[in-house]
Amino acid sequence: MIKLDVLEKMSTEEKYKYMLILLEGQLSSEKDIYANISNASAIIYAVMDKLNWSGFYFMRNGELVLGPFQGKPACNRIKVGNGVCGTAVSTKETQRIANVHEFPGHIACDSASNSEIVIPLVKNDVVYGVLDIDSPVLNRFTELEEKYLTKFVEKLNNYINWENL
Ligand code: SME
Repeated sequence: MIKLDVLEKMSTEEKYKYMLILLEGQLSSEKDIYANISNASAIIYAVMDKLNWSGFYFMRNGELVLGPFQGKPACNRIKVGNGVCGTAVSTKETQRIANVHEFPGHIACDSASNSEIVIPLVKNDVVYGVLDIDSPVLNRFTELEEKYLTKFVEKLNNYINWENL
């Protein structure tokens, strides 16, 4: 069982380090990809405060399709180049958006979202999908969040063969 009560006494950076330990524990003890990515989205949602959505979209026949997530029901499909997620795919670069209402083409799945970070899942130059995290707080995601979420995705990449999804 994942132990979360210890989070209360931790600083923000300690929480993010613990988030990576929880992910390592999950990935090293379970082989099933869907169990792993489902709990990966739940670990982020449980550890990071002030979030309203965290989850995955995966490339299926040239577009992003919704994967495991935590939060309100979301858009099923996003075209490459559209919204924050589709832009992360077309640029192969993390999108850290302080105010989503100023992002041209932002797709509002939950009207509570005000800021967002999207990290593409890139392995050997191929984009397999994105990790998408939303917050109701403007400018929620700083360089610190980007640093640890990037490490989080690197760890997923080390363990998961996205081609088997
Ligand atoms: N806001 C995203 C859409 C996905 S939801 O946030 C879950 C976007 O603009 O791509």
